[in-house]
Amino acid sequence: MPLLVGTAEFNEQEHLTIGGCDTVRLAEKYGTPLFVYDVAHIRERARGFKQTFNSLGVKNKVIYASKAFCCLAMYKLLEEEELGCDVVSAGEIFTAIKGGMSPKNIEFHGNNKTKEELLYAVEQGVGMIIIDNFYEIELLSAILKETGKKQHVMFRITPGVDAETHEYILTGQEDSKFGFDVNSGQATQALEKILADERLILKGAHCHIGSQIFSAEGFLAAVEKMLLILNDWKKAFNYTVDVLNMGGGFGVQYTEADDPLEPEAFVKAIVNAVKGQCELLDYTFPEIWIEPGRSIIAEAGTTIYTVGSQKVIPDVRHYVSVDGGMGDNIRPALYDAIYDGFLANRISKETPEEMRIVGKYCESGDILIKTIELPPLKPEDLFAMTSTGAYGYSMANNYNRNLKPAVVFVENGQDKLVIRRETYEDLIALDCE
Ligand code: LLP
Repeated sequence: MPLLVGTAEFNEQEHLTIGGCDTVRLAEKYGTPLFVYDVAHIRERARGFKQTFNSLGVKNKVIYASKAFCCLAMYKLLEEEELGCDVVSAGEIFTAIKGGMSPKNIEFHGNNKTKEELLYAVEQGVGMIIIDNFYEIELLSAILKETGKKQHVMFRITPGVDAETHEYILTGQEDSKFGFDVNSGQATQALEKILADERLILKGAHCHIGSQIFSAEGFLAAVEKMLLILNDWKKAFNYTVDVLNMGGGFGVQYTEADDPLEPEAFVKAIVNAVKGQCELLDYTFPEIWIEPGRSIIAEAGTTIYTVGSQKVIPDVRHYVSVDGGMGDNIRPALYDAIYDGFLANRISKETPEEMRIVGKYCESGDILIKTIELPPLKPEDLFAMTSTGAYGYSMANNYNRNLKPAVVFVENGQDKLVIRRETYEDLIALDCE
């Protein structure tokens, strides 16, 4: 039986429904590939994080990492759920504000924010800029001087913690392009520079150890390291943070083999660790902020594909091609990410067979699922690939000039188109003759 998450279930016609909407009807209405987002599931995740902090009596901010998936409707939803958002480009700031996000709830990250982007952020009144490097301190200082403004900032620290995840999404280790390194003393130098500039209002320190992390250990190690550093700074500079931002990275379930902690358990573990360390060091308990992206949006998303051609090479492999692929989900090709999925338009009693799900892109590496057992598939069948909500659409591309898919939000039996499918005209919109 497929792994059904959130509101996903099969109806009497043996069609997959999500948010009370029949995915066969959605595919007819909007075409495929189609990203379907279960809004109730997004809300549940968002509330889970917030309520856990609140039930522990901890001042907090849950800041959704836009890079996992964003569009105007997503920002509207975040506002409704009282979440902030983390952005990493002026483009995300622009979209967030257009989507109704209050600028004060926007947090700006990035290891190479340009002068133009920083100026834009300051002018728009973005609530928090997370300073990543020395060059950025200079740029931001100059902009604030010129504009006569002050800015709330934090600074990003790489605490020197390794988490168990793919090397490309590991960020808390010393050898990283992100943040100020602690061991070499750069973090302390940065602190001094920021404190010396009266236009930079330093609210606290940030770290993000990586992404798709299943256990609390890495976070606990990071909390311990961060508080030791903060405590040194308290002694040396009489500086105490208001906020400790522990980043995102909480893992999700892509297949049954994945067994991440529940979001609530991550929060409890972090809060307990911060409490413990603060008591031990006699450090004032700070506000705790987190930046979950994947854990809010991944499992809420399902991609519906239409099955097309098949190729069976006897004793070698059975290939099933669908009408999308590495253009709408590059994660299997980029990170060896493993996904699951199932037949969405009928329930088959036939014996499952081993097959490989591939896309339509002109590249052998265009594989969506390397090995999966499914009942025999026919052309026009719908294949639902699950947990595609994070870093799927947001990393989509037009390789081979394929069109980016449409995205719908479904909730309580209502479907709402939130990103329309691209058209051929869109494809040439930027071309100059
Ligand atoms: N905060 C910071 C500073 C980050 O760099 C990230 C992710 C997050 C929060 C959110 O992490 P999450 O909760 O979503 O794991 N494209 C990759 C993931 C890259 C993550 C980059 N930073 C993937 O598809 O796995």
